[in-house]
Amino acid sequence: MKTFNFSPIALIDSGIGGLSLLKPLVKKYPNENYIYLADNLNMPYGNKSKKWLVSHVNQLVNYLYYTFNVKLVILACNTASTCLIEISKKSPVKVIGLDLNSCIVDDYKILCTRLTSKSNSNLNTYPCDRLAGFIEDNFFDKKMLNRYIKRVLNKAEISEQNIVLGCTHYELLLDEFKSLLPNKNFVLPCKAFVDNLTLDKPNIATTKGNMLMLATLSTKSYIDKLWKIFNK
Ligand code: DGL
Repeated sequence: MKTFNFSPIALIDSGIGGLSLLKPLVKKYPNENYIYLADNLNMPYGNKSKKWLVSHVNQLVNYLYYTFNVKLVILACNTASTCLIEISKKSPVKVIGLDLNSCIVDDYKILCTRLTSKSNSNLNTYPCDRLAGFIEDNFFDKKMLNRYIKRVLNKAEISEQNIVLGCTHYELLLDEFKSLLPNKNFVLPCKAFVDNLTLDKPNIATTKGNMLMLATLSTKSYIDKLWKIFNK
């Protein structure tokens, strides 16, 4: 199937997290058409096996390509991105994803999901087991989130100066992390990814592109939530 420069770009995450990549991406490429797919039916990805994630994400990629003729799929999820090579091998369309290795600076610790931690044993990671799910369910309750993140950070006992937010859900809460650890420096993989991205086939349209928000467990309130966070 041929794709065109106006074909949409798809982003996949297990939930709201990938919006932290979508926001700067739309700012950089406002004329592109986008499809955001939140796989909230299967959230969290961080507790899944690599084998399950590869075959499952491949099904989502096929759906996006054969239904919407997307020209590019972005894994807006650090956990799914740990399977990028395996997913790409079976994909009918180009798939790209986040790369924590490119975010490494001196004296760092990566906060991430269990699977991301397991898949990056060469890196200094700390798995924050239920944090992504907690953010997903309580995004608008800042008080509760603050308390939860504080507990996670206390447990993590971070002595390093640079903290990599290695889960896209965490990047959405940069302000909360900063307020709890004002003396640390935060590294943002989504921002780095978008800064370094050059599209192969950019849309030549001069008008603003369209955006479609999808969820595998699609309710009006969930889609509204995606829009609300995107527009924040
Ligand atoms: N937002 C995801 C990530 O960047 C996944 C969170 C999850 O589903 O466990 O890792």
